[in-house]
Amino acid sequence: MKKVLTLILAAVSCMTMFVGCGSKSDVADKDVLIVGTNAEFPPFEYLGDDGQPDGFDVALIKAIGEKLGKEIQMENMEFNSLVAAIGTKIDLAIAAMTVDEERAKKVDFSDNYYEAIQYVILLKDSNIATIADLEGKSIGVQLGTTGMYTAEEIKDAKVQTYNKAVDAVNDLMNGRVEAVIVDKNPAEVFVGKYPDDVKAIPGAQFEFPTEYYAIACPKGSAIVAEINKALEELKADGTFDALVAEYIGAE
Ligand code: ARG
Repeated sequence: MKKVLTLILAAVSCMTMFVGCGSKSDVADKDVLIVGTNAEFPPFEYLGDDGQPDGFDVALIKAIGEKLGKEIQMENMEFNSLVAAIGTKIDLAIAAMTVDEERAKKVDFSDNYYEAIQYVILLKDSNIATIADLEGKSIGVQLGTTGMYTAEEIKDAKVQTYNKAVDAVNDLMNGRVEAVIVDKNPAEVFVGKYPDDVKAIPGAQFEFPTEYYAIACPKGSAIVAEINKALEELKADGTFDALVAEYIGAE
């Protein structure tokens, strides 16, 4: 009888331990990582011909997954929902996401993997050239992005938000906004599609700050160090540069 009781007790404490572990589980222990992105931001992320997320970020996180021995499953969602979804709907986010103080209160960022800056997209014949020229103007931005925060700081700017950056560009061409503020590389891609109608002006001309992209991870997770190590290896073995060449091209 005593033996049976001991066995039961042992089994119960084992189960408690298991459940306890489960509730404190770290994404670093998972074999499959659900990675959120917003596939509307070429060349970093967009939907490929097969309808699946593709682009530099997607290729990068898959290469990192390979180094870590983990399968990567991409989850396409709105940019503005990504940070809050980490730890519930998704394990990580890679979305050309700029490291900023507010986000860093909610997530831990990996090391930076790419340098960026906001660009201003204008109609070809616009003579907006300085930050003062942007004052009081209607400016289109993607909701929840650093482009939106940049626009909000411009005096009297009427900021119009969109779920997709490309819709802001369409409204610029329709005359519904006078400027669009968006990250450099996507700005170049969008303008490249309509070179007769719009132009992209480097943010340095407007004294916008340099930004850095990083992968957003759950706070306190061991995955951050693992991702940083994988990133370092991918840089050392040439994979990172090959992905830059393939998806982004020469600067
Ligand atoms: N770098 C900007 C930010 O972090 C814009 C990123 C938008 N990314 C996207 N996949 N839509 O706010």
